[in-house]
Amino acid sequence: MSHKILLLPGDGIGPEIVAEARRVLDVLCECHGLRCELEEAPIGGAGYDAAGQPLPAATLDLARAADAVLLGAVGGPRYDALPREVRPERGLLAIRAELGLFGNLRPAILFPQLAAASALRPEVVSGLDLLIVRELTGGIYFGEPRGVRTLPDGQRQGFDTELYSESEIVRITRLACRAAEQRQRRLCSVDKANVLESSGLWREVVEGVVEQEFPHIELSHMYVDNAAMQLVRAPKQFDVIVTGNLFGDILSDCAAQLTGSIGMLPSASLDEQGKGLYEPVHGSAPDIAGQDRANPLATILSVAMMLRYSLGAGELAERVEAAVAGVLADGLRTADLQGGTRRVGTREMGEAVAERLRAG
Ligand code: IPM
Ligand code: MG
Repeated sequence: MSHKILLLPGDGIGPEIVAEARRVLDVLCECHGLRCELEEAPIGGAGYDAAGQPLPAATLDLARAADAVLLGAVGGPRYDALPREVRPERGLLAIRAELGLFGNLRPAILFPQLAAASALRPEVVSGLDLLIVRELTGGIYFGEPRGVRTLPDGQRQGFDTELYSESEIVRITRLACRAAEQRQRRLCSVDKANVLESSGLWREVVEGVVEQEFPHIELSHMYVDNAAMQLVRAPKQFDVIVTGNLFGDILSDCAAQLTGSIGMLPSASLDEQGKGLYEPVHGSAPDIAGQDRANPLATILSVAMMLRYSLGAGELAERVEAAVAGVLADGLRTADLQGGTRRVGTREMGEAVAERLRAG
């Protein structure tokens, strides 16, 4: 069976890092029996340039027809002055919503070779392996009403709405519990239940799901401000964190830095059937775009997640992860990673991973 994979390079460093992911997929097809057809389509600013929309209809059609989607990154200063509805970020939010990708898995794993690259002391982060499960199609990102209105006194007021329905909380909790079952069976739900109504309901529903359906999971709750502090104080206390869209956005950047660089973090966004979109957690880094300086490893590790979750190829996923560990052990480092013995560019890093896969 041949898998249809849609590549969405996007903007900034997106095309460069997706090119390296493509190189890895090519080697897997050539040498390790993977069968896939790759297609490419524009999204974000590239979508706007091509079709006047950050998510062109043709791109969405291809995404629906694909078995899995790999995305680079969207956004850039060229598009900052556009109206909000056609900004590149809207393309990303729209594809998440259109494909029903409610469950965002963001693992933060420290490769031992990078212990010295973390902003925290090696003993605080060595062996770190946590998973953030972020709700991705609800909450304040999508809640209505939203907008900017003019008050009676003439000043403007901006507003957004944080909304979570029971069914949204139930399904993300189930996803997080199933992930925890494959790990240490510890789940920490993060909210702001001391202040927000929506968080009060979140906490109650999470508690109910775990009690009734996953009694073997050890559940704890944490307020988001404390969670941010605990992530930099003692991150190894966490196994799986489940949280809403906005808190998950913030905490996952924080967790990313623990691993040495946000350039190392992959993610998977899954729908109810387990179909997924895979993307690095980092953005489009317009300041280094086109300079062969971006770290392609988060995108390559996103390919590994795709192999595991959407293509039923867990063994190939492990090969890719081992190849990444191998090039780091060889001392190769892109500009975002400290240490190592050899500074390399985007392409050389991608080639080194491909070379290891070819050899093994
Ligand atoms: C992320 C990004 C996006 C988000 C932006 C680019 C819309 O920060 O995937 O974490 O906020 O979800
Ligand atoms: Mg983010």
